[in-house]
Amino acid sequence: MASSLEGVAVVTGGNKGVGLAIVRGLCKQFKGHVLLTARNEENGKSAVELLKTEGLNPIYEQLDILSNESIDKFKSRIEKNYGGIDILVNNAGIAYKRASTSPLIEKAHVTLQTNLFATLAVTNTLLPHMRNGSHICMVSSMTSKLKNVSQDKDHPVRQRLIDPSLTEEGVLSLMREYLIAVDNNDYSIWPKDSPYSLSKVAITAVTRAIGRKLANDPRGIIINACCPGYVDTDMTSHRGVLTPDQGAVTPLMMCFIPSKGSNGEFYMEEKMYDWLNSD
Ligand SMILES: NC(=O)c1ccc[n+]([C@@H]2O[C@H](COP(=O)([O-])OP(=O)(O)OC[C@H]3O[C@@H](n4cnc5c(N)ncnc54)[C@H](OP(=O)(O)O)[C@@H]3O)[C@@H](O)[C@H]2O)c1
Repeated sequence: MASSLEGVAVVTGGNKGVGLAIVRGLCKQFKGHVLLTARNEENGKSAVELLKTEGLNPIYEQLDILSNESIDKFKSRIEKNYGGIDILVNNAGIAYKRASTSPLIEKAHVTLQTNLFATLAVTNTLLPHMRNGSHICMVSSMTSKLKNVSQDKDHPVRQRLIDPSLTEEGVLSLMREYLIAVDNNDYSIWPKDSPYSLSKVAITAVTRAIGRKLANDPRGIIINACCPGYVDTDMTSHRGVLTPDQGAVTPLMMCFIPSKGSNGEFYMEEKMYDWLNSD
């Protein structure tokens, strides 16, 4: 069992792609236990073995972000074996391939469920265990830019997303409205066929809302969202131009932002991006 005084970093979807590269980077940069979590035990353990051949020493932990039972068991192991978390990287995510012939209703529900609702279930379950001065990195995407909702800056959905009083629940209810619209084949105010972009718009917006909420939390927890860039992984069918290690650079930066640094912001290419005002 680990001493509760030792640092603990957690990465979701750590078995491959950007997540595996973030685990690698944390093993090199973070003094403490690095938990490589994955939903599939075999894939998670092989990823740990791969990193061991590089002289690194992550620990495998099972975590399927779509399973409340898996999240609860993971939380119990954190309480019992580690005592708390210093870094949480919400990296796990999915994207249907462009060529996918799945119905849009399925794509929208499954994508939002994983990339938004499950990601927040993990965050909120683990939040009570985040230690003083800890960091949360939300792996979002450049597709979270507001122009992907609408080019019109006065568009009602854009207006709700940039509302400075928008709460986490407000973002979730907006995205539930989107899912109802998809169920009803009603695209009067929603873009068609871009559930992945909308899931990431919601992640960037919800990061802002959580950042505002955490400003009143005495633990000084810092949360920021980021885009890893266009990375050569299974998700991009290996078309991305960055290596996974290059894609991990900005997410890793989010794990070490100084305590008086940004909160609730969105970063790309290692720089803060003015998500509210840019297109
Ligand atoms: N690659 C890019 O260019 C790019 C650009 C912008 C943003 N991103 C974001 O970066 C993150 C990582 O993407 P990637 O390119 O590395 O994708 P990837 O190679 O497809 O890896 C995705 C990871 O998420 C895991 N995952 C999916 N559903 C999960 C679940 N229910 N529970 C636990 N793990 C789950 C996958 O596990 P399995 O192996 O079990 O499926 C895998 O480990 C995603 O959030 C993605 O949206 C990527």
